[in-house]
Amino acid sequence: MTRAAEPALTSAVAAEPVIDPARIPRHVAIIMDGNGRWAKSRGWIRTRGHERGAETVRAITTESVRLGVKRLTLYAFSSENWSRPAHEVEVLMRLLERFLRQELPVLQENGVRLQAIGQLARLPERVRRTLDGTIAATAANTRMVLSLAISYGGRDELVDAARAIAREVAAGTLAADDVDADAFQDRLYAGRCPFGADQVDLVIRTAGELRMSNFLPWQAIYAEFVSAAAFWPEFTVADYHACLADYQRRERRFGGVCAR
Ligand code: IPE
Ligand code: IPE
Ligand code: MG
Repeated sequence: MTRAAEPALTSAVAAEPVIDPARIPRHVAIIMDGNGRWAKSRGWIRTRGHERGAETVRAITTESVRLGVKRLTLYAFSSENWSRPAHEVEVLMRLLERFLRQELPVLQENGVRLQAIGQLARLPERVRRTLDGTIAATAANTRMVLSLAISYGGRDELVDAARAIAREVAAGTLAADDVDADAFQDRLYAGRCPFGADQVDLVIRTAGELRMSNFLPWQAIYAEFVSAAAFWPEFTVADYHACLADYQRRERRFGGVCAR
């Protein structure tokens, strides 16, 4: 069909972007930002934004499975977020635990295997136990890995991996000459991805922000970055599709020569 034969776009509603099912990113990582601002803009306390944000997590997770994404990494709580007021941290931990309990049937139905990355020893005992339970219960699922970054800091992850390597070299179980990118990858929080999605293809950050905030410095070196204007609680599946369409318009070069 020629362009001239297409009907004129008279609707004020933007058309859904076309997504090529053959070029779905294998690994999507999302910096879920703007919960506090979303709540404040409605005159509510910040923590209501975190509550609503959990609903967005469900919608985006199930849509990712439907689209054929193999790994979804969600930045839920950073190492730096421990410095927030104690009450906010408490609410976030409570919501996390509730999310892990409530979402188990949804994860099972969708074949999602849960994984957590971060300094999990810093989490309250109750959260850790629930987390361990959900990880164990979903361990056999194979459609998608959901990596929750909790108490996660990219620098911490690199330092922790370097320390593990140093210990092994000192103990004589690893030769210094065998320390390469694979050896490093194996010692990151998630180890090797069972679906071959160690590297991130697409990073999405909501709330219009344009920074990484200590997220995945090893895994995202060649990720495409898309910023979405919506605050996380109001980020819709249509917004997600728009981010994916933006990603699909990019030419990934990995240091090679431009194809155009
Ligand atoms: C993201 O929303 C959630 C976490 C960082 C835990 P924020 O709480 O950062 O919301 P804003 O950025 O203050 O609006
Ligand atoms: C990044 O958001 C961390 C998470 C989304 C969990 P922040 O809101 O903490 O980041 P900054 O402080 O604005 O960079
Ligand atoms: Mg924020």
